[in-house]
Amino acid sequence: MKSEEDFVETHLKEVEGASVWESPSNIALVKYWGKYGTQYPQNPSLSFTLSKCITKTSISFVPKEIKNRDFSFDFKFEGNNSPAFHPKIQTFLERIDCYVPFVRQHHLKIESVNSFPHSSGIASSASAMSALALGIMSMEKKINPTISDAYFFLKASFLARLGSGSAARSLKGPIVSWGKTDVIEGSSDLYGTALDSKIHPIFEEYQDTILLIDKGQKKVSSSVGHNLMNNHPYAATRFNQAYINFKKLITILSQGNLTEFISLVESEALTLHALMMASQPYFILMQPNTLKVLNRVWEYRQDNNSSLCFTLDAGANVHLLYPKSEKDEVLKFIKEELSCYCQNGKFIEDQIGNGAKKV
Ligand code: PMV
Repeated sequence: MKSEEDFVETHLKEVEGASVWESPSNIALVKYWGKYGTQYPQNPSLSFTLSKCITKTSISFVPKEIKNRDFSFDFKFEGNNSPAFHPKIQTFLERIDCYVPFVRQHHLKIESVNSFPHSSGIASSASAMSALALGIMSMEKKINPTISDAYFFLKASFLARLGSGSAARSLKGPIVSWGKTDVIEGSSDLYGTALDSKIHPIFEEYQDTILLIDKGQKKVSSSVGHNLMNNHPYAATRFNQAYINFKKLITILSQGNLTEFISLVESEALTLHALMMASQPYFILMQPNTLKVLNRVWEYRQDNNSSLCFTLDAGANVHLLYPKSEKDEVLKFIKEELSCYCQNGKFIEDQIGNGAKKV
């Protein structure tokens, strides 16, 4: 297992180059909610890597003309200069500075596009931060070509985590954990680990249709949200529950018991929201239409003997998870009975994926 010191690059060289990476979003089944220190999770989490919800980021770099210690970068989002994103990128570069000191020697031109509509309320920080981290690692590879592929991705996950915790789980697929636990060999609080145990075939090409219930800005940023777990009355119980659920989920994923899968995944989603409702200050991030969808999903499952279930991010949108064998019927149900609860009738058809790719 690696420690933080193992990720310090000491080579400093001025180079020119460019790279383009596509990195996906992910959806947590056991949720990360609560952190400490420099983005260490309070409990292990586990996610399905997505396939179509991706951020594509190109980074080109040249040696800086003025040799000062400032970071130098331009950022374009979907073709437009986007100063609103600068503070996030600046903070990210400051956090990763000691591991990638060569970044300060260069001017970076960063351009990003998302495959999903901007402000769709989809957690884009995982795909965005992982794509950015990969671009930085491509710079490192140019400066130090001796680094192995395994190290490249491990460090990309390590850097991505410093941008957004859940981003550590986006580099690889189809199922990735993050956070130290006895159940996963080599697991760490520092980076994500792709599950290498045998997964039941029912989860192959597992579907995730994302219902865009509310495209508005997040009411609570995830940093603020995680901090609400400090001094939260249920914190210790929650972290312990997440360890237990993580362990259970590993068994479920290998045995393919969908009844247990549904019960665990939906409980995790509702627990996340319950924690927010029980924080000080408190938040309700579900919308009336979120609740309507959840109730319809429960009815549909009962009436059709289906394995359709839901999970939620820290927002109003609903991720509907189901086996590929149910795709036609579930999509019909979504179009006919759930799309009316989505803003402009919009939803995204995605499925479990294999992680980031170089373009
Ligand atoms: O990566 P962050 O800091 O945006 O936190 C993500 C938190 C959840 O999406 C709610 C849960 C998770 O594990 O992805």
